[in-house]
Amino acid sequence: MITVAGSASGKLAARVAKSLGCPLVKAEVTRFPDGESYVRADHDFRDEHAIIVQSTCYPQNDNLIELFLLLDTAKDLGAKRVTAVVPYFGYARQDKRFKPGEAVSVRTMCKLIERAGADDIFTVDIHEEEIMANFAIPAYNLTAMSLIGRYVERLDLRDPVVLAPDQGALRHAKRAAAEFMADYDYLYKTRQTSTRVTMRPKRLDVSRRDVVIVDDIISTGGTVIEAVKILKKQGARDIYAACTHPVLAGGALRKIIAAGARKVIATDTIEHKTSVVSVAPVIAEAIR
Ligand code: R5P
Repeated sequence: MITVAGSASGKLAARVAKSLGCPLVKAEVTRFPDGESYVRADHDFRDEHAIIVQSTCYPQNDNLIELFLLLDTAKDLGAKRVTAVVPYFGYARQDKRFKPGEAVSVRTMCKLIERAGADDIFTVDIHEEEIMANFAIPAYNLTAMSLIGRYVERLDLRDPVVLAPDQGALRHAKRAAAEFMADYDYLYKTRQTSTRVTMRPKRLDVSRRDVVIVDDIISTGGTVIEAVKILKKQGARDIYAACTHPVLAGGALRKIIAAGARKVIATDTIEHKTSVVSVAPVIAEAIR
């Protein structure tokens, strides 16, 4: 077995290789003068099981091309099995034709990953579980929520509540909270008048309690910022924002902290300064 690190996931790939106890090959990635990607993975792949680790975060299109080239190269050089590990799966939120004529982008990405040579694929907390059904190869969606829960447990919070920003994310809150037997709930919107909507936890009172908001992804930060502001008004003490994928586009981290969150806690599916939890153990365990 050999782990190959794509340029978007160098640190995570090294952690996965360490957990699996196998060698690591760091792909050489540069550019041709005209801007095309050049990729080289200098290793004898014959009869190896190659694990290609590459998130397709920003710059998404470059990282995708690199992933396709690495999968195809490992196969072409004789790997007996090629596993794609795409910890953050870009384009996952364009999973429907919301307007006539739109590309269902994630479906195209699934086809291309498979066609490039993946024999199986692992990802983490993908936007919708159903996306995995686009693959004909074995496809596994892992979760980082237990790891996030274990990290939060070490913060020794006061009377903690784990909150999902909406009902769709409740399963994440439940999983993280289970690690330290905390209460969990989700933020529920109620329409008071035609112009006034209020938001509050569905069952629990957060006053004088520490709160951890958990979601799969923080992108612009809009969802979390709205939640932080409301929870502050409702008397929450320290508020933490936790997610699997710290996309954190356009100054989101600064805005979340300015809104009153104490800290943003994220994983290394996207390698960022907030990535304090590594998903390597769940990936290695699943591959094993
Ligand atoms: C929505 O379905 C997701 O779970 C996140 O809540 C959302 O993508 C976060 O986006 P933003 O940070 O831009 O509000």
